[in-house]
Amino acid sequence: MFLSKRVLNTQASPIRKLVPYAEMAKKAGKKVYHLNIGQPDMEPPKAFFEGIKRYTPNVIYYSHSAGLYELREAFSMHYKSKGINFDPEDLVITTGGSEAVIFAMACVADPEDEIMVIEPFYANYRGFAEMLNIRLCPIKADPRDGYSIPSWDELEKGYNKKVKAIIFSNPSNPTGTVYSYEELKRIVDFAKEKNIFVISDEVYSGIIFDGKKHISIMNFEDQDRFIFLDSISKEYNTCGARIGVLGTKNKCFLEEVMKFAQSRLCPPLIEQCGTLGLLYDLDKDYTNKLIIEYQNRRDVAYNEIKNIEGAIFQKPSGAFYMSIELPIDDSEEFVKWTLTEFDIDGETVMVAPLTGFYATPGAGKKEIRIAYVLNSEELKKACNILKEAVYAYNYVYSKEK
Ligand SMILES: Cc1ncc(COP(=O)(O)O)c(C=O)c1O
Repeated sequence: MFLSKRVLNTQASPIRKLVPYAEMAKKAGKKVYHLNIGQPDMEPPKAFFEGIKRYTPNVIYYSHSAGLYELREAFSMHYKSKGINFDPEDLVITTGGSEAVIFAMACVADPEDEIMVIEPFYANYRGFAEMLNIRLCPIKADPRDGYSIPSWDELEKGYNKKVKAIIFSNPSNPTGTVYSYEELKRIVDFAKEKNIFVISDEVYSGIIFDGKKHISIMNFEDQDRFIFLDSISKEYNTCGARIGVLGTKNKCFLEEVMKFAQSRLCPPLIEQCGTLGLLYDLDKDYTNKLIIEYQNRRDVAYNEIKNIEGAIFQKPSGAFYMSIELPIDDSEEFVKWTLTEFDIDGETVMVAPLTGFYATPGAGKKEIRIAYVLNSEELKKACNILKEAVYAYNYVYSKEK
């Protein structure tokens, strides 16, 4: 018996593959501050649990494959209140934003086709593309330029005739960059010129700082070209609930994507009922408090990382991530080392090496991502340990190597 080349060629999650080293550190009695994974640490809104109680029927049936109509109606109202004109019929409820990404990729590209991606990118795009035998075609964003959308010339260099779509997340995981109107317009114009789809992953659109406004791809013209993706995971601290949304005005795409939706029957019913609770009864303060909390943490992390000599990074404007170029030679080796050989009074830190967020071989070796999903006090300690670790790695460990 043989396993498929597809699975054998799929990379392990770059975020999870170093977890055994963290487990070893914990077994050895160390405390590990986890800045490596985007796992929100706050309580979800009560409205979610109340929604489950109030709206769950007595029989846990398969819902419509596009999700409960009431839920699509509720999302439609929610989007309209944000200036995004989706009718319930334009939406498919998915099992997390992850399924929405898989559906979108599978619907626009055949095996051996290519999808352009702004890198560094959400690492699981690579796993999904590998699962579908689609090649990612990376366009590199520069940390010195705040990881903004590369120029038209750069986009042009990355394009070839096999490209069927361009995908990016806005705000970006892993950089926290929020794209401007001009940057998004460049993508829209480029996609139009090349006649390709735009897959806009907006799962962090509710987490934007400094009073800035998020611009959705759906605010541009040429809507048939756009596939919009969303999720309740991050904005409502409900990542285990597995509810996402795929939205498009492209009727042909919708009709076809429903074949995938029907073959997996339906998204989870109980969690759809919880989501109804979120959309009908959410306490308005919840999101404001969430944004303030993440913005404070962003400031704490930003101010602490400034103390790391040689670190190159920008203040992120959204999501809860920051990508940082550090004065180190190999981020993966650095992360292993912080878990196996380094600690300060029995405490160490785990960050994510950025190599797995790139498709370009060898890229990201000096970069890491931190997720600020710890309270401010712990975050401050963790960033300070990171600073000491960079110093020790360069001036003690590297000299011993
Ligand atoms: C950019 C981005 N898109 C999609 C997802 C998947 O989200 P979900 O938990 O809804 O599957 C994530 C999760 O971290 C993400 O960061």
